Amino acid sequence: MTKIAPSILSADFAKLGKEINDVELGGADYIHVDVMDGRFVPNITLGPLVVEAIRPTTKLPLDVHLMIEDPDRYIEEFAKAGADIITVHQEVSPHLHRTIQLIKDQQVRAGVVINPATPAELLLPVLSDIDMVLIMTVNPGFGGQSFIENTVKKIRQVAQWRKEQGLEFEIEVDGGIKASTAKLCSDAGADVLVAGSAIFSQQNRRQAIEDIKAALKE
Ligand code: DX5
Ligand code: ZN
Repeated sequence: MTKIAPSILSADFAKLGKEINDVELGGADYIHVDVMDGRFVPNITLGPLVVEAIRPTTKLPLDVHLMIEDPDRYIEEFAKAGADIITVHQEVSPHLHRTIQLIKDQQVRAGVVINPATPAELLLPVLSDIDMVLIMTVNPGFGGQSFIENTVKKIRQVAQWRKEQGLEFEIEVDGGIKASTAKLCSDAGADVLVAGSAIFSQQNRRQAIEDIKAALKE
């Protein structure tokens, strides 16, 4: 079954614990945590302190998406704060094997993210080492942006490599996911759908999650 990972970037930060509780009860599978440094992306969000604070509020895996330069410096801190999955951007990780190893050394699931303009081929050398590929379907930095259609062929491509090589990593997509774009991604091979504004802009989060799940069945 396709998993839903609400992105707390669009939640009310003044009551984060309650927001997380709401989506957990509403059927979320992961909690997606967007870490931005104002350098790799224009926006600044949160750090390990916030991950540590939300850790006890949920049983769901914390899926920590690092949009930061030099991620190696912070992996241990995010792991200790309670991350279950850490994804790092290919664009800022010149020594990708080492970075992946640093994540795994912390007994955390390791993922690699690519931006819309980054070719999927750059993932080939590490596919057998990772637990997750995250394909950005918008340029990272903000919630509420429009889905970039031509990223779908990369989902299909990565899913094909996974099959050919007999691998088991999850494919996650992030950006502009709502009922109308979810099915495109899951049909192409995505297993985890991140959704921020589509879920947190609705009063009824359970309904918002169910709307996405229902669209997958159409
Ligand atoms: C974008 C973040 C996303 C963001 C998605 O830079 O990585 O996780 O919260 O937001 P929506 O679902 O609103 O596009
Ligand atoms: Zn994200």
